[in-house]
Amino acid sequence: MSENNGLSRRDFFKGMSFVAGGAALGVTLKPSAAFGADAPAAQGADELDYPVEGLGCVTSRPITVAVMGAGSRGRTYAGYAERFPNAMKVVAVADINPLRRLAMAEKYGVAENRRYGDFHDMLAAGRIADAMIIALPDDLHYEPAMAAMAQGYDLLLEKPMAQTEQECLDLLKRQRETGAIVGVCHVLRYAPYFRALKSALDDGLIGDIVSVQHMEPIEYAHMAHSYVRGNWHSAKATTPIILAKSCHDLDIIKWFLGKRCEAVSADGSLIHFRHENAPAGAPARCTDGCPHEATCPYSAIDIYCNKHKHMYVFDLPQGYTREDVMEKLRTTDYGRCVYRCDNDQCDHYVANLRFEGGVTAAFSMEAFTPWGGRRTRVMGTRGFIEGDGRKFTVYDFRANRRRLWAKNVSEIAEYKGSGHGGGDLALVRDFLRAVDAHDEALLSSSLAASVESHVMGFACERSRFSGRKEPVAAL
Ligand SMILES: NC(=O)c1ccc[n+]([C@@H]2O[C@H](COP(=O)([O-])OP(=O)(O)OC[C@H]3O[C@@H](n4cnc5c(N)ncnc54)[C@H](O)[C@@H]3O)[C@@H](O)[C@H]2O)c1
Repeated sequence: MSENNGLSRRDFFKGMSFVAGGAALGVTLKPSAAFGADAPAAQGADELDYPVEGLGCVTSRPITVAVMGAGSRGRTYAGYAERFPNAMKVVAVADINPLRRLAMAEKYGVAENRRYGDFHDMLAAGRIADAMIIALPDDLHYEPAMAAMAQGYDLLLEKPMAQTEQECLDLLKRQRETGAIVGVCHVLRYAPYFRALKSALDDGLIGDIVSVQHMEPIEYAHMAHSYVRGNWHSAKATTPIILAKSCHDLDIIKWFLGKRCEAVSADGSLIHFRHENAPAGAPARCTDGCPHEATCPYSAIDIYCNKHKHMYVFDLPQGYTREDVMEKLRTTDYGRCVYRCDNDQCDHYVANLRFEGGVTAAFSMEAFTPWGGRRTRVMGTRGFIEGDGRKFTVYDFRANRRRLWAKNVSEIAEYKGSGHGGGDLALVRDFLRAVDAHDEALLSSSLAASVESHVMGFACERSRFSGRKEPVAAL
């Protein structure tokens, strides 16, 4: 931004008025009794105008990146190069899936000799780019991250960064030894909504923060897709859901408070998606003529063929048919009965977190909701904030005043298609700036900051199993 083009912050936002003016785009607010959703405060509230920063960045040269994992996340981050080719260039790709490897290689014109199958082959080539994006499955983050830092790479590293607390600490040690710029993909920190909420807290709009309530509603079909049938069904093979899904939330809570978490007590279990809960006569797959298919909320036929959710996992060709999807459901885990999978992830999870100075946060992760999107309430000594992941209201007790931040980010042209409320590509923007300037401070989710919230997740798991309040390691 201003560090590159000489504009002041205010001038920059003036110049980006279509971005900064999101609130004027005709946001419709409907009152509702739902937690955090369109609370009555939305009516008659004044506008709170924290602007939305543009997604572009000016770098001294296109930053070259090698992408490990051309799946959903790898494709998302690589997409920055398509929009802003002057700032980023994809020069290498590794994926064991030949379709995904080829698609990314062709899209970005990756040279033949820079297309790799297994990630080890890419590492064997030595350092071939300024930075590496590690978007492999959870169990394949630690090894390439350690090796790539030793080779001199800067890293954009997917969360969870590693599968154990010790591995997280190893990564931090290696990062400190090498001086690598490492951005962990805690994308919510970069989403305009969360940035604005953080600014409201830092600007003291509600006084000192005393406590937080934060809820992560996963959404019933997303739960079934990812944590029952899909890639993250096994806590052991990947990471426990408090890390696999909710490390974002622990991270956001910690970031909001700006304090160290000292202790946690957590609970949670898998109540519903268990073999003994299968309805009578349910076969192994929804496609096997299940008598409950027409009424089961978790029917794979309904989720994929009717509602077309999460279709990217199937690598279907252009113009695919319903029968193509049915064939995938007959042959992959995504067609399995949710009561007959090998899953062990919790479907509900609560954690009480105590921070320095006695400040507390209550977190809950819920599978059984009709929508996703985080809900947050922050209690301060002079006011209160309530948000639903898209807009939030700030209440000032003494002035009896309500202010609403409600930029409709998904309607801002530049942000269209940038997932996680715009956070996905905003993270890449800040990462490229940090790499270009070799300045970790330009990055919110540095490795050091992210290790702290990962350590909170491991402490939650210890507490869930021990039944005791557990201390969180000080770093
Ligand atoms: N930051 C976020 O909000 C967010 C969201 C979803 C997922 N994630 C994390 O991102 C990571 C990737 O998730 P995804 O949804 O993109 O998964 P994905 O399965 O779509 O992509 C992973 C890719 O890695 C490839 N791969 C697997 N083993 C490999 C190997 N040995 N060498 C080379 N390639 C290999 C697979 O073929 C696949 O294409 C996971 O750790 C996940 O937890 C983060």
